[in-house]
Amino acid sequence: MKWSQHAINCLIVFILCDSCFHQVSSLENGLLRQPPMGWLTWQRFRCVTDCHQNPDSCISEKLIRTQAELLVSGGYLAAGYEYIIIDDCWLNQTRAADGSLQPDFDRFPNGIRALSDYVHSLGLKFGIYEDYGTQTCAGFPGVLGHLEQDAKTFASWNVDYLKLDGCNADIKDFDTGYPSMENALNATGRPIAYSCSWPAYQEYSKIKPNYSAISQTCNLWRNWGDIDDSWDSVYSIINWFGDNQDRLSPFHGPGHWNDPDMIVVGNYGLSPGQSRAQMALWSIMAAPLILSVDLRTISDWAREIILNKNLIAINQDPLGAMGRRILKLDGDVQVWSKSLQDDRTAFVALFPQPYGTPIHMSILLTDLGLGRFDEYDFFETFHDEFHGKYHKTDRYNFTINPAGDVHAFYVEKAVIKSQKL
Ligand SMILES: *[C@@H]1O[C@H](CO)[C@@H](O)[C@H](O)[C@H]1NC(C)=O
Ligand SMILES: *[C@@H]1O[C@H](CO)[C@@H](O)[C@H](O)[C@H]1NC(C)=O
Ligand SMILES: *[C@@H]1O[C@H](CO)[C@@H](O)[C@H](O)[C@H]1NC(C)=O
Ligand SMILES: *[C@@H]1O[C@H](CO)[C@@H](O)[C@H](O)[C@H]1NC(C)=O
Repeated sequence: MKWSQHAINCLIVFILCDSCFHQVSSLENGLLRQPPMGWLTWQRFRCVTDCHQNPDSCISEKLIRTQAELLVSGGYLAAGYEYIIIDDCWLNQTRAADGSLQPDFDRFPNGIRALSDYVHSLGLKFGIYEDYGTQTCAGFPGVLGHLEQDAKTFASWNVDYLKLDGCNADIKDFDTGYPSMENALNATGRPIAYSCSWPAYQEYSKIKPNYSAISQTCNLWRNWGDIDDSWDSVYSIINWFGDNQDRLSPFHGPGHWNDPDMIVVGNYGLSPGQSRAQMALWSIMAAPLILSVDLRTISDWAREIILNKNLIAINQDPLGAMGRRILKLDGDVQVWSKSLQDDRTAFVALFPQPYGTPIHMSILLTDLGLGRFDEYDFFETFHDEFHGKYHKTDRYNFTINPAGDVHAFYVEKAVIKSQKL
């Protein structure tokens, strides 16, 4: 395909929706008024349990303590990344004599409560993983048959966040099972953010999830497949959320969030451009920002992307609007936008394909949905650079790199000169 200015003539304009966050009744545990930010073991550390062969990367107390310390000393907590969450593979293969959950004591010699206390002493919040079924995805004991007991155990460990997976269970039970676990958590009296995999399994099985019920039960929920450390995976998730935004966005907002899965920036699979793209699009989607990366070895460029102040502010904007894909241009360039407080709007243009050289784009402000004000100030998001003042009848011209890079920008009503002086 030849890239040229005629590209812009081939716009397919999707319906632009300025206020798609309808009031829906939702879980009221007071938590996660903004998308959660944190760090989770899964993508980078998976289910490595052999600490003899992998002393520095097995799922263990030592790994969690080390990464927690780096979340603080590396400036991540100050930027908002406050939850540290252990995913699957922390459990002992069997429950204790009284039926309660227990960790693998070879890897967690001081138990979970001591680890949770240490995490809290650093100013972080502590999250853990379980599964609604008979076993977790990796084959450890699940909560089925022990909901109340396990909720009490988590509360006694001062857990702040529970990710509840859906392996080894009957999907037909989820519509009652996930709410039962929420009731059990609520009954402990401890506010515990509740991350559900409920709709992800239903979407995959072509069962239509009841997002109304889900948003009344869960603080966040995985909608679709697990992310992997590759651009193919990240791009397919972006497209799935774009294709399904109309039915997802009404349920998205303070206290209840759709979750496209972890940020994989800083690992093996994404280029710097693709890393910018994931972070920029997750910010626009107001998605949970849950890192999964080895903070001991993360590169400076990846760290800068993860800590970008403007992207985090867009993600954490108090309105909690789920951004939308508003344009699809020739050659698969897509533009997303998100309404922010104070009449600002954030945009991301993504050029997902390999092409070899940057392309020039030229988009009418009206095609970006802008027109309420006569003039807008444009800023590049990553570096917060002023890109000029545009009239609502103008075109915005920019270049964008190929192979999964983005141009991120935000706009606000132009400041009138006399006010500036
Ligand atoms: C697992 O639990 C069993 C039964 O409580 C116990 O005997 C065993 O030592 C535990 N193993 C580990 C590795 O924690
Ligand atoms: C339990 O649910 C009630 C009713 O929604 C809510 O007011 C309360 O804050 C919840 N408590 C906890 C600990 O989540
Ligand atoms: C979806 O859940 C809501 C809230 O629990 C309920 O009122 C409604 O009947 C459910 N819809 C369907 C189709 O089951
Ligand atoms: C933007 O591009 C359009 C189309 O190529 C061109 O007509 C216009 O002059 C450009 N605007 C600016 C400010 O460069």
